Amino acid sequence: MANLKGVRGAPDILPRDSSGWQRLEDVARAILRRYGYVEIRTPIFERTELFVRGIGEGTDIVEKEMYTFTDQGQESLTLRPEGTAPVVRAYLEHQMAAQSPLVKVYYLGPMFRRERPQSGRYRQFHQIGVEAIGSDRPSVDAEVIALLIDLLVEEYRIPDLQLRLNSIGDPACRPKILDRLLRYMRERASQLCPECQKRLERNPLRILDCKQEGCQRLVAQAPKPLESLCGACADHFAQVRSLLDLLKIAYTIDDRLVRGLEYYTRTTFEVINPHLGAQNALAGGGRYDGLIEMMGGPSTPGIGFAVGLERVMASIPGDAEEQTALQGVYIATMGQDAHKSGMLLLQELRRRGVRGLIDHEARSLKGQMRQANKDRVRYCLILGEEELTQGRVTLRDMAKAEQQSLALEGVIEHLLELERAGTR
Ligand code: HAM
Repeated sequence: MANLKGVRGAPDILPRDSSGWQRLEDVARAILRRYGYVEIRTPIFERTELFVRGIGEGTDIVEKEMYTFTDQGQESLTLRPEGTAPVVRAYLEHQMAAQSPLVKVYYLGPMFRRERPQSGRYRQFHQIGVEAIGSDRPSVDAEVIALLIDLLVEEYRIPDLQLRLNSIGDPACRPKILDRLLRYMRERASQLCPECQKRLERNPLRILDCKQEGCQRLVAQAPKPLESLCGACADHFAQVRSLLDLLKIAYTIDDRLVRGLEYYTRTTFEVINPHLGAQNALAGGGRYDGLIEMMGGPSTPGIGFAVGLERVMASIPGDAEEQTALQGVYIATMGQDAHKSGMLLLQELRRRGVRGLIDHEARSLKGQMRQANKDRVRYCLILGEEELTQGRVTLRDMAKAEQQSLALEGVIEHLLELERAGTR
């Protein structure tokens, strides 16, 4: 069993970092509640078929990045690479449409993709995602994007973010969009990278966001979806834009933004942090007005996004050094009897809602005080053998570096009062 290591690309979140993660999650839950979203928790794995159909066979995710296995019942299962397909499955399976014409849910948790690990790209990563299912109104697009910007800019306070926006059409204009693109690209197929030559047949829109220099040069002159939108899609996009203007949400139009999943229609968007390097997309999303029907439900529009939390973490300046506030009580004891009294006091304090710690290693008083400092407690209660026989204890305020002798009796009430005053 020697040398067992974690899986590459699946990092641990260690105790020194977990409070930062909890803060991100708490802030997100609060704003999601304000926007009227409720949490949905779908399983970590689903039938493989769900993702193959939902995300699309021609995508990188389905072609080469899924963690798929056959279980003991010979069923093919896959660790979820994203959250939209599972939410749509649950929406249909539990007839959630009956609850409200517009179902607004969010999810938070790990996703799995077998990508090549690098800075900002992992094989297990965490997303906060939202899905608003049931309306194709442009105001829903604007509200979803406003939520994303509020979360990243107003709540997480990440500077210099860029919102990129595009529209990639619907079943009415998609054939024309693809036809024009294919005609242009087929004539120049020999100049495309080998990957894009394959995409030409399977997923031609993806060529638009290829990072290879040769392809980018071709793409610069290629016909873009925005130029071939049908009237209804062009009008929808104009309304989304004007609502974003109304809400003073700045964006740039990126006519190459097509996204890596096949379910998108009409509005697509990404938020980029230009300071992050190659993996600089903090969040991505868009409309998927055909997905629910494609998964066997009635024709129902939807829109959503997902934020990558590892990339958010990497974008928040100086967060790691931020110190948590001093909190709770450390009981330092000398001698076995004092330790027993300490255990009893702690039980009472903890039951009454106070964070309480004690030494279990019979360390010296100095050692215990050092630990109390590390544990960032506000107060230290020192129980000495001799003091206790006189019914007294010493209370040290770690913030003010002051101490006083108190009667043991009533010390709990005293501490509770101090705690209450501290949180006021
Ligand atoms: P996505 O663009 O594939 O969209 O992922 C959204 C975000 O998840 C990315 O912008 C990125 O921040 C993060 N992310 C993706 N892959 C990785 C990775 N390997 N390592 C670290 N972070 C990663 C979706 O997943 C869609 N389901 C979003 C959506 C919801 N569209 C509509 N509704």
